[in-house]
Amino acid sequence: MKFKTQLLHSGAGADTQTGALTTPIYQSSTFTYGTAAQGKARFAGEQPGFIYSRMGNPTVQALEQQLAALEGADEALVVASGMAAVSSIFYALVSAGDEVAFIDPVYGGTAAFLINTLSRAGIKVSRYLSDDDLVANINPGTKLVLFEPITNPNLKVSDYRKVKAAAAKTGAITVCDNTFLTPYLFKPLAHGIDLVMHSGTKYLSGHGDIIAGVVAGRSELMQQVRTIALKHIGAPIGPQEAYLLQRGLRTLALRMDAHLAGAAKVAGFLAQHPLVAKVIYPGLTSDAGYPVLAETVGAFGGMVSIELAGGFNRAARFLDQLQLFTQAVSLGDLESLACHPASTTHAAMDASSRLAAGVTDDLIRLSIGVEDPADLIADLQQALQA
Ligand SMILES: Cc1ncc(COP(=O)(O)O)c(C=O)c1O
Repeated sequence: MKFKTQLLHSGAGADTQTGALTTPIYQSSTFTYGTAAQGKARFAGEQPGFIYSRMGNPTVQALEQQLAALEGADEALVVASGMAAVSSIFYALVSAGDEVAFIDPVYGGTAAFLINTLSRAGIKVSRYLSDDDLVANINPGTKLVLFEPITNPNLKVSDYRKVKAAAAKTGAITVCDNTFLTPYLFKPLAHGIDLVMHSGTKYLSGHGDIIAGVVAGRSELMQQVRTIALKHIGAPIGPQEAYLLQRGLRTLALRMDAHLAGAAKVAGFLAQHPLVAKVIYPGLTSDAGYPVLAETVGAFGGMVSIELAGGFNRAARFLDQLQLFTQAVSLGDLESLACHPASTTHAAMDASSRLAAGVTDDLIRLSIGVEDPADLIADLQQALQA
């Protein structure tokens, strides 16, 4: 089945209880098991059935089955946020004394979790500034490597083939945060990456109305992540959010096509504008990431970043002039959003790490929505001129 068809037809199908075509919202925290003997059997895992929504819920399960099919995974897990996905992966798969690696930049919350919190659990966290740096310098004890194929916020491209080669040297588990590409554009598991994760808050749900996280991969790893995420950290997604995420998924391909087309047009406009010091968009043939994405993905995402020389003040003046772009963090919504990462999404990082990762005070991140690109370009034009 082609991906666009899978978006509508993969997973559990109609509700088995009622025949409802869309999955009902099972808004219940607990589930009766009838008799004490059946309760005992369910808790022992000898009898199927739901027990308690922190550990499993029919609405969430239907969504997980669909996502597993879309990712080509044995199993998928949906949790309360992208950060719940990140933290559950690390707490499940590494222990005190282990070493983990990430290619910087990553989303600022992920970097802050790794550097400020995970390291307090006795785990050594090493950051590398590119896929080449990882290949050349990966420490021998590394157990897990996290990367974003298009980094947040400065859209640097990491080649999954280099990450895999580096991880193979130490036998490390590879984790791809694929929030920016989604399984419509890239399926890391099909290319030998061990786990894929997303902030489901972004393109997967697509409407800016929920917070969610997704992890998918083979059962042996997923069972460990599931136990930590649900039983120990306790970060399940609620059934309402699961319903909305499943509804959003149905239009993923349609939305992504519009985001991609809009981003290409907006980047083309910005690239020739004399007031823009730098345009970062991996679909520009001049961009360092272009050949890698052209070869491995064949698409360039819906994000465009720019630098206006002049630090926070100039960036703020530009942002405050925008009328159609909304100033807000997050991305992948239907509406176009604009933010200044150094003072918002990446403010928790210390300034020198931020600069080393290329997240400068000049940087502005644009999430291109599905509006008519001509209107977006007109808005950017008037804000630049002002
Ligand atoms: C690439 C990436 N990963 C993870 C996250 C964290 O996701 P959430 O905000 O859903 O916790 C974000 C949030 O912006 C992100 O952009």
